Amino acid sequence: MNIREATLDDMIPMQNCNLHNLPENYQMKYYFYHSLTWPQLSYVAEDEKGRIIGYVLAKLEEDPAAEPHGHITSLSVMRTYRRLGVAEKLMTQSQNAMRDVFNCKFVSLHVRKSNRAALQLYRDTLKFTVQDIEKKYYADGEDAYACRKILQ
Ligand code: ACO
Repeated sequence: MNIREATLDDMIPMQNCNLHNLPENYQMKYYFYHSLTWPQLSYVAEDEKGRIIGYVLAKLEEDPAAEPHGHITSLSVMRTYRRLGVAEKLMTQSQNAMRDVFNCKFVSLHVRKSNRAALQLYRDTLKFTVQDIEKKYYADGEDAYACRKILQ
């Protein structure tokens, strides 16, 4: 298995992986926007045949009213490749690039309150802290934990 920076050619398999794993889906133009604007921040994991089995899609926060920081738009790993440390590695690569390339002081993300696996990954493994609960953040009405991590 190999982890590397995502290229424009990876956007279709990344979208495919996203559609398999998450209800939060995005138009292809949003993937291209990430890759063209912040090519250093999104990563893919590929198997020995070069098939994409996980990805992290990330960006800089664009709200001019907010402090500049990195943001994880989406993360997922195909079911048969889970619990192998893939997500942790993808997240670490993206966080390092946010810090080293863009001088980000922190990274943010949202996660469903019911998503125990992702919460454990973010809070316990990656040391994010929950900043806030955003009521009805998701389209189906579920609340989100708004999480943050200071980048050293
Ligand atoms: N249950 C409990 N803890 C878990 C689980 C789980 N199912 N999965 C990961 N963790 C925690 C563990 O502490 C794990 O360490 P350990 O295996 O040594 O115990 C640690 O996270 C690291 O796990 P990884 O192997 O790096 O995680 P994985 O590659 O399996 O991916 C992910 C985790 C991304 C949450 C995966 O389960 C997935 O794709 N789920 C569906 C999509 C999803 O929920 N994505 C996140 C949405 S939020 C967002 O996109 C911003």
